[in-house]
Amino acid sequence: MMPVAMVGRVAELTELARAWCSLAGSTRPARRTALITGAGGVGKSMLVAAALDAFDPAPGTVLFGTARVHSPAPYDWLAAVLTGRDSGDLPLPADALAWLAQHPNAPRERYAPGTLLRLAVQTVRALVGAGPAVLVVEDLHALDPASLNLIGELAAAPELPALLVVASRPPEAAVAPELAARTLARLAGAPGSIRQHLGPLTRDQVAAVLAQVYPDGVVDPPLVEAVRERTGGNPYRLTELLATQGGHGPAGLVQQSPPEQPLPVVEWPVEPLGAELTAREVEVLGCLAAGMSNKQVARSLGISVRTVTVHVSNLLRKTGSASRTEAALWAVRRQLTGPTQSV
Ligand SMILES: Nc1ncnc2c1ncn2[C@@H]1O[C@H](COP(=O)(O)OP(=O)(O)OP(=O)(O)O)[C@@H](O)[C@H]1O
Ligand SMILES: [Mg+2]
Repeated sequence: MMPVAMVGRVAELTELARAWCSLAGSTRPARRTALITGAGGVGKSMLVAAALDAFDPAPGTVLFGTARVHSPAPYDWLAAVLTGRDSGDLPLPADALAWLAQHPNAPRERYAPGTLLRLAVQTVRALVGAGPAVLVVEDLHALDPASLNLIGELAAAPELPALLVVASRPPEAAVAPELAARTLARLAGAPGSIRQHLGPLTRDQVAAVLAQVYPDGVVDPPLVEAVRERTGGNPYRLTELLATQGGHGPAGLVQQSPPEQPLPVVEWPVEPLGAELTAREVEVLGCLAAGMSNKQVARSLGISVRTVTVHVSNLLRKTGSASRTEAALWAVRRQLTGPTQSV
């Protein structure tokens, strides 16, 4: 089946293009944030891609990073951005860059987590330069806690000449739900931020997709309604239905019972950590790896500082670490050296 061209999303596309245009046209460009949320398969990535294509003037610098679901690691977003990029001339220590880029032979224990966060922000600043740039964060819901922290920092970074475009499923679907929720709230609250929540396709939009696929076929209102009911107007489900049952004309779409079309799920394998940690402890550990203080962890996870202290002391014991920095590095090391590292 031919790929389907995007239908609808006109208002969203216009708003994004306008945000870019005003940023790029400004003599003193300042960071702006666009947050695109919606259920799995609703069309966030397609909208982001269409927006990047539509941006005028075309952005000179696009930093595009996405969570690599099978091998999440600290600062995975930044590592994805650095992949394949020549970072030799960046004004940062080479070993820190190697670490942030997750080079397999990078030294691992030299920097404390707080320093790494600062270096990560500096790296992005150096890549953006005088800008204006677009920073794309795909699948925020699947990112590791350190990346979430970094994205939150970038959304608040003063004098960063960049449009930060973030796509995410709702926090309930996230790998670290509380952290993702806090980060999304932080992004939505950033000054001048644009907020778009994508819903399912309307009847007319479903009809427009079907008309693309069957230019000569009969696409009448009852068929459109049946297809919309079957797919809930979810574009991913619709494209799957077209791919699996659409080969024999439009009527074929509603003849058989619909195939199972589970949405791609996101899982963050915590097993490589090796110790018996609870889900909450893994979240706290992620916060430590992101360089947060107990107070920041408490705020991020919506729990008391006292509870954080208890989690931290359990973590120290379970990971055999003498300090919180050591525990954070332990987490970092385990994830970096996990068996599923390469992608
Ligand atoms: N507006 C649209 N018009 C036509 N097809 C669309 C539209 N939006 C999405 N699609 C198609 O639906 C499928 C899923 O879209 P996409 O990957 O953008 O969803 P998503 O919201 O990014 O999903 P995820 O949460 O899994 O990242 C793709 O094949 C895409 O081409
Ligand atoms: Mg997507």
